[in-house]
Amino acid sequence: MLGLYFSGTGNSKLCLEIFLKNLNNDYSLCSIEDSNAKSLIEKSEEIILSYPVYYSNLPLILKDFLLENSSLFYGKKIFIIATMGLFSGDGTGCSARILEKYGAVIIGGLHIKMPDCIIDVKILKKSSEQEDKLLKNTKLKIEKSANLYSKNCQTQQGLGVFSHIAGLLGQRLWFKKMTSTYKKYPKIDYQKCINCNNCIAYCPMKNLYINSLNQIDNLNKCTLCYRCVHVCPKKAITILGKNIVHKQSQFLNKKS
Ligand SMILES: Cc1cc2nc3c(=O)[nH]c(=O)nc-3n(C[C@H](O)[C@H](O)[C@H](O)COP(=O)(O)O)c2cc1C
Repeated sequence: MLGLYFSGTGNSKLCLEIFLKNLNNDYSLCSIEDSNAKSLIEKSEEIILSYPVYYSNLPLILKDFLLENSSLFYGKKIFIIATMGLFSGDGTGCSARILEKYGAVIIGGLHIKMPDCIIDVKILKKSSEQEDKLLKNTKLKIEKSANLYSKNCQTQQGLGVFSHIAGLLGQRLWFKKMTSTYKKYPKIDYQKCINCNNCIAYCPMKNLYINSLNQIDNLNKCTLCYRCVHVCPKKAITILGKNIVHKQSQFLNKKS
């Protein structure tokens, strides 16, 4: 069994790991960013796919990965985990419909609420107590779904027609522009930046570089994953908001 993921800030990877550990099967774990992802997909009959929801849609980096490797998914049995801050409607359904088109068999779906990775927007901030409670419930929910999976009775969250309508009307239509193309982000506060280059090293899109003014600049290829925002030691990077108002992810493996 293969656990395949895209995770900007660690939530989707963590949820997938908890799910897989609870299945008690042998598994490989791999990010779509890893060089061996394609060969592992080829070799695996059953895949658990995990990713974050952006505006009730797929991260563009993941959508493009699925498209570029569409032939690899033919005939695979796929269970989908979608992580989110609050609401997605059909977070799992977004990739399910694409994968079905490529000949995959979707065997179930699970929606998981996690601490929001958008840490530069005040309204999305939760207290530490709220986050602790959320994580406890999340763990229980994943264990329950994994248990059902083992009994061949997979949860089906986000895959039905009502979820589809909720995702479409709730968000996807209104925010289509945000997820249909890569963006000219992130924003760098050069007063705070110490040129540690962490953001360059971690960006999954190779979107960041040092320009002729010796400043971090972008190539218009941001997939909005927020990883650079979370790895900046000086909190000098923002995307949607203006300032960092919440703590950085505790689930992202940082090198420093
Ligand atoms: C650009 C963007 C858009 C998002 N849109 C939604 C959303 O529509 N609904 C929601 O509940 N959470 C939304 N989130 C929150 C993430 O889905 C959530 O924090 C997720 O668990 C992050 O996973 P990761 O750590 O694996 O990247 C959004 C996050 C980003 C960065």
